Amino acid sequence: MSKKILVLYYTQTGQLEEILKSFLEPFSGSEHELEMIRVYPENDYSFPWSGKRFFREMPECASGSVVPLKPFSLKQKAYDLIVLGYQPWFLSPSPPVNSILQNADVKSVLKNTPVLTITGARNMWISALERIKKSLKESGAKHAGNIVLVDKAQNHVSVVTICYWMFSGKKDKFMGFFPKPGVSEHDIHHASVFGAIVKKHLEKGSWSELQNELFENKAVVINYNLMYTELKGSRLFGIWASIIKKKKNKDAWLVLFKYYLIIALFIAAPIILSLHTILVRPFIGKRVKKQFNYYSGVNYN
Ligand SMILES: Cc1cc2nc3c(=O)[nH]c(=O)nc-3n(C[C@H](O)[C@H](O)[C@H](O)COP(=O)(O)O)c2cc1C
Repeated sequence: MSKKILVLYYTQTGQLEEILKSFLEPFSGSEHELEMIRVYPENDYSFPWSGKRFFREMPECASGSVVPLKPFSLKQKAYDLIVLGYQPWFLSPSPPVNSILQNADVKSVLKNTPVLTITGARNMWISALERIKKSLKESGAKHAGNIVLVDKAQNHVSVVTICYWMFSGKKDKFMGFFPKPGVSEHDIHHASVFGAIVKKHLEKGSWSELQNELFENKAVVINYNLMYTELKGSRLFGIWASIIKKKKNKDAWLVLFKYYLIIALFIAAPIILSLHTILVRPFIGKRVKKQFNYYSGVNYN
């Protein structure tokens, strides 16, 4: 039986669109009706970013800001599946994604509808997804699956290469020897495997086993050190954001935040992580297992 699928997403560089197109390959030529909506902010973010503009987004993202979107309309009143493409910005959903989730028409179709979330991130997406899950729950959606594509380079390497990409606009090898930034072409291409899995469950009309199968096929891979760093970082970003939002000289504070971030990422985090790995992690096995299970699924507290 033909199913109605709505795909909603924002993308700045086009990476998430490439991922979604690959993911949707198994649906092309099928009997299913696919509606793909790429949203655009009224005032889109200029790309490449300037350093100032980039860091100005931090308090906005951490405080869950929305931005006005160019009008869009949905063809249907109800869907069999909604695919939501999102990207984390400063460990929170990007403001255009928040805006999608706050749109009245979207909220109305989300109610009682299975939703699949999919991201193309650097490597820290957990806190953003937690916020998205909160919005999905408020709209009465049924979160059926989650797919995560990340830059698999070592964390500090991907910080360097994503900065090069974001500030130059070039998705190529920084200085000729760094790896290419972002999700690899291989992984983008491989997203069609996840599409085939989702299609199978959609046609069966049963979602209970979807995330298990996606997980078995490595659609979500949890890295403990990244998870630990991100969960700490997300709390700290929240504190910084609430301080900066109240300040008159925000730009000066954002310069301070930028240096804090560099020191935190390249000096403090590796020291704290090493101490944690030696002194704490061996004794919190059960808690770690619980966290792994929780974040690799589509679970709600
Ligand atoms: C302002 C900004 C902040 C970002 N913060 C994060 C982040 O916290 N975690 C992460 O994994 N990726 C982060 N990224 C990378 C994006 O999630 C995404 O991978 C990249 O921007 C490409 O997405 P696109 O499809 O919108 O072009 C950030 C990107 C931008 C522009």
